Amino acid sequence: MTRVLYLIACAAGPTQHIDQGIRAAHTAGWDTCLVLTPSAARWWEDRLGELETLTGHVVRSQYKLPGQKDTLPLADAMLVAPLSCTSLNKWAAGIADTLAIGLVSEGVHMGVPVVAMPYFNQAQGAQPAVPRSVETLRAQGVSVLIGPGGYEPHPPKQGNAPSFPWGRAVAALPKAP
Ligand SMILES: Cc1cc2nc3c(=O)[nH]c(=O)nc-3n(C[C@H](O)[C@H](O)[C@H](O)COP(=O)(O)O)c2cc1C
Repeated sequence: MTRVLYLIACAAGPTQHIDQGIRAAHTAGWDTCLVLTPSAARWWEDRLGELETLTGHVVRSQYKLPGQKDTLPLADAMLVAPLSCTSLNKWAAGIADTLAIGLVSEGVHMGVPVVAMPYFNQAQGAQPAVPRSVETLRAQGVSVLIGPGGYEPHPPKQGNAPSFPWGRAVAALPKAP
């Protein structure tokens, strides 16, 4: 049976090219459900239908209302990419005020493998909260792909969002048994 991946994307540069991430996950054999933060959903609000056609699932970005049923299948793994500086720090602080963070902050403690690849610049990454947040998430079992072998924060104004290493992020997910 095809395994289900929740690809969770924040409002960071590579989310403009989230179709690349979906295709990379499909190539690796994942049935991929896309979850966007509310900020990221604004970037795609006029073209959400394209992403729903590509994934074959509704694209979620908001918590459901009490009593509403789940619209996505259960996840076998979750990939947060790109992870923004803001969501990194909120997640580590336990602030799950978006569905995106809520899914992963609970998921990792329900035994779901969670991988995260950030995308932010060196000035954002210089905030003291950032290394603390990375360590806090790693201590919970999240595979945070930052630094060598993951994403190296770029100098300010020199990001290259179209070349975000989606393949490296997908390759860090659990392999099929
Ligand atoms: C055009 C644009 C590009 C942005 N790119 C990034 C980025 O690459 N990395 C990042 O951490 N924040 C970036 N931001 C700032 C985030 O969007 C902002 O911190 C937001 O609150 C993140 O919310 P979210 O994590 O819930 O998506 C960008 C903002 C804008 C308007």
